[in-house]
Amino acid sequence: MRRLVTASFVLSFSVLVGQADHSFVGVKACTPCHKTDKQGKQQPIWQASQHAKAFATLKTPEAQKVAEKAGVKGAASEAAQCLKCHITAAAGADMKPTFVKEDGVQCESCHGPGSEYKVMAVMKDHAKAVAAGLIPISVADGSAEKACKNCHNQQSPTFKGFNLKEAWGKIAHPVPKS
Ligand code: HEC
Ligand code: HEC
Ligand code: HEC
Ligand code: HEC
Repeated sequence: MRRLVTASFVLSFSVLVGQADHSFVGVKACTPCHKTDKQGKQQPIWQASQHAKAFATLKTPEAQKVAEKAGVKGAASEAAQCLKCHITAAAGADMKPTFVKEDGVQCESCHGPGSEYKVMAVMKDHAKAVAAGLIPISVADGSAEKACKNCHNQQSPTFKGFNLKEAWGKIAHPVPKS
């Protein structure tokens, strides 16, 4: 019991430190190194996904109806209650000028704020990248599913269930094996 309490304290402490040290830079800062066939085309794959449209969705009449039903006063695209899952950085998070909220659910929603890890020498070294704020996330060990369910859950007013295998199939973006 005591060990458990300590572990969760360390975890929440490091999350807090992470937020203080690392800023969100936005998808445009990742693009130069993550767009070619050789790199694995992560940016074009993301651009074609619904995640890239998540903010734009809030501006549709359909979203406005969903918002009214959920008791939102005013525009869905300005409501914290909707933005919390439809954009990357929550209000109060540290952001660089390159960060654009209109880009929706971006790389850093899953990989963590990138201001410190996005440098080539850090990116190439997994341990250094994690020390610089990259969240180690993997489909195989279950951490990815947990991260998806931060947003894909009952709190989504349009939730219809979540199947990791199917959903991951739509957004997978591996680096090709050379
Ligand atoms: C200066 C070039 C560069 C930039 C900018 C860059 N990356 Fe990378 N990234 C790389 C390289 C090189 C690798 C190693 C790729 C490989 O395994 O072939 C990598 C690997 C990764 C990995 C896998 C790392 C691991 O250890 O598991 C993730 C995730 C990632 N990048 C996300 C991002 C995100 C998100 C951004 C923007 C915030 C970003 N990268 C910006 C060059 C870059
Ligand atoms: C920060 C919140 C957030 C996280 C984390 C997140 N998503 Fe999403 N996801 C959304 C939102 C919001 C939409 C709806 C976007 C729209 O349609 O405008 C969406 C839509 C999708 C869609 C398209 C809709 C569908 O069901 O076909 C897929 C696929 C998807 N997400 C997969 C994933 C997977 C896999 C993960 C975890 C690796 C994940 N998402 C993590 C917020 C998130
Ligand atoms: C919805 C969550 C989500 C978003 C958005 C997302 N990723 Fe990922 N990414 C993952 C997960 C989960 C993995 C681990 C996949 C696995 O276990 O094989 C991953 C893996 C990677 C890898 C390593 C691939 C490999 O084969 O080693 C790179 C590089 C990467 N992402 C870059 C990016 C970039 C750049 C963006 C934005 C353009 C982005 N990701 C957007 C969830 C996401
Ligand atoms: C807990 C996270 C979360 C919250 C909060 C949230 N959404 Fe979403 N939203 C999602 C996800 C994930 C999807 C895609 C899958 C789904 O419908 O669950 C989505 C999809 C949508 C869609 C597209 C529905 C469709 O069937 O294609 C609309 C419209 C939408 N959301 C509007 C809103 C509005 C308006 C609010 C605020 C009242 C809101 N969302 C709050 C996570 C969230």
